[in-house]
Amino acid sequence: MNQEAQRGEDSLLDLRDQFPILETSTYLISNSLGAMPHGAREALASYADSWEEHGVRAWEDPWWNLPGRVSTAIGRILGAPEDSISLHQNVTLASATVASCFDFAGPRNGIVCSELNFPSVVHLYQAQERRGARLNLVESPDGFTVPLDRMLEAIDETTLLVPISHVIFRSSYVQDVEAIVARAHEVGALVVLDVYQSAGIMPLDVEALGVDFAVGGTLKWLCGGPGVACLYASPVMQETCRPAITGWFGRNEPFAFDPRDDSYAAGASRFATGTTNVPSLSAAVAGAEIVAALDLEEVRSKSVRQTQRLIEMCLAEGWTVNSPTDASTRAGHVTVDMPDAEATSRALLERRVMIDYRPGAGIRLAPHSYTLDGEVDEAVSAIREIQTGLRTA
Ligand SMILES: Cc1ncc(COP(=O)(O)O)c(C=O)c1O
Repeated sequence: MNQEAQRGEDSLLDLRDQFPILETSTYLISNSLGAMPHGAREALASYADSWEEHGVRAWEDPWWNLPGRVSTAIGRILGAPEDSISLHQNVTLASATVASCFDFAGPRNGIVCSELNFPSVVHLYQAQERRGARLNLVESPDGFTVPLDRMLEAIDETTLLVPISHVIFRSSYVQDVEAIVARAHEVGALVVLDVYQSAGIMPLDVEALGVDFAVGGTLKWLCGGPGVACLYASPVMQETCRPAITGWFGRNEPFAFDPRDDSYAAGASRFATGTTNVPSLSAAVAGAEIVAALDLEEVRSKSVRQTQRLIEMCLAEGWTVNSPTDASTRAGHVTVDMPDAEATSRALLERRVMIDYRPGAGIRLAPHSYTLDGEVDEAVSAIREIQTGLRTA
C-alpha cells in the first residue's frame, strides 16, 4: 500500500509532518531516542531568545510554567495526577531520590529486582549495600524474560523495595506488574516501577496498578529528548517520605532561604531538589504533549500489529527473535539476532535505517505511532541485503 493510501487508513500517520527526520530516514528506534518534533526546535529557540532578551525575568514566563506543562502531559501518559509527579534529570537520579527515603539498617533491608532491569538502576541499588541494603538480583535463565515465580519467591517479609522494569530493555518483555505488586504489598514491601520502555507506547495507569513509585523519562517514546525524568509517588508516599536527596525546591517555602527549614513540601514537590533543567524541559514539552494527546489504546494496537508483522518477517528469514512472540508479553520493540548482527546494525545506520544493537541480544527495531508499514518492510529488506553482502564479501 502506498503512503497516501496508508495515511488515509491510519490517522496516527498525520503525526509524520511534525517529525522532520522521518523524511530522510527509516526511523525505527523510538525506544531509545524518539524523533525530534518541530516544536522542540521552536521551544529551544524561544528558550534562547527569552534568556538573551529578558535575562533573569525569563523565569517569570515561560520558564516557571514549564515543569507544570511537562508534568501534566506525563501524568496523562502514566495515568497519574499532575501533582503526583516530580521532575528529575534522569531515571537513575529519580530512583536515587526514592532510595534516599529509606533506612536499610534494620531487618527489613532487602531490595529484590531482576538482573534484566536497566543496569544503571541496578548499579544504584547495588550501591545501597553500603547503607545496609541486601540486593537480591533475580536471575533470568534465558537472558530475555523474567521468571515471575522466582520474583515472587524472592519477595518476603525482609524486603523493603522491589524496583521493576515494566518492560525489559533488551527484549521488550513485559513484566506482570499486578502479580508483583500484590506479593510485595502482602509482605509490606514497596514497588518502584520503571516505565521508561512502556510509557507512550502502551496504555498505563500507575494509580490502578497500585505501585508506590514510578520512574520514567521523556527521551524515548515521548520524543522529548534527554534531561527530563519523572517520579510518580502514591498519595501515601507523598505524605510519609522524607528523601535524603533533597534541596530548596523540596521545601514549602524555598524563597524564604531558611537553611534550618527541614519541613518537606506537600505532595510530590517534596521529592524535588534544586533548580529545574529549563533547556531540557523546553525541548520536552512538544513531544510529551503530542503523545499525551494520543489515544494510547490505538497506539498500542498499531504497535502490536507492526511488531507482529516484523516478527513474522524476521522468523521467515531464519533470524532469531529474542522478543516474545506473544503480543500480551511484548511491548513496543523487537530484538532480532543473526550472525554478524553488530556489523549489520552499523551498515543499517549508514543506510539511514535507524536502529540500535545490544550485545548478546541483537538489533532492536521499534516502530512508533508515526511509522509506516512500508518502513518495517524496508528495514527487513535492508537487513537481508546487508546479510547477503556480508556473506558474499
Ligand atoms: C528501562 C530503562 N530504565 C532506565 C533507562 C535510562 O536511565 P537513565 O535515565 O538514568 O539514563 C533506560 C534506557 O536508557 C531504560 O531502558
